[in-house]
Amino acid sequence: MRISVAIDGPAGAGKSTIAKLVGNEFNLMYINTGAMYRAVALKANEKGLVPSDVNKICDLISTMEMHFENDDLILNGENIQDKITLPEISNIVSSYASISEVRVKLVKLQRDMSNKFDVIMDGRDIGTVVLKNSNFKFFLTATAEERANRRYKELQLRNIECSYDDILKDIIDRDYKDTHREVDPLKKADDAIEVDTTGLNISEVTEKINSYIRQKIKA
Ligand code: DC
Repeated sequence: MRISVAIDGPAGAGKSTIAKLVGNEFNLMYINTGAMYRAVALKANEKGLVPSDVNKICDLISTMEMHFENDDLILNGENIQDKITLPEISNIVSSYASISEVRVKLVKLQRDMSNKFDVIMDGRDIGTVVLKNSNFKFFLTATAEERANRRYKELQLRNIECSYDDILKDIIDRDYKDTHREVDPLKKADDAIEVDTTGLNISEVTEKINSYIRQKIKA
């Protein structure tokens, strides 16, 4: 039987860092579903498509072959990981991610991946929609201030100019949009284990999740 692990939570809760480490521990393919929504926003924006151009965006998605190599998103043969993590894309992605037709298409691609491989997926609707039947579901949280601080440091390390206040505002704004949108809003699945990462370091959070998974596998 395939193993699939779902990690959900708000922006900047550390989902991708933790998912990569847990994935390495249990030999799971890491699928960053936020990267897939970002890829749609990047390409739609490059083609001048606004979120109301739903049919054109769906046609565009049909031409997008996406897979992951070493945790980076490869789109039609091009590694677009650096482009999709720029603040310009962070600022526009929620409007594309809230289109239900876009979600249907990406959820299908994500489920296809989980049928082919043992996966660990992070996102907003993994435990509630994409991997609804998974036995391993986690919901990571942290205060908005701590999450903004983590993003700020990450962008500074990459020499990308940014202000802490703008990042905090973006995080609060995205939290609101992610939790209030009509389709598949960010929500903890009833059977997910909540892990508050505020004040915890990466290895403390990883070990917590690894030990839950080990316990469940044993049981
Ligand atoms: O995790 P992230 O910041 O890279 O996500 C980018 C955007 O995509 C964010 O606005 C939330 C949205 N998203 C989503 O709606 N569903 C997912 N499964 C993953 C991300």
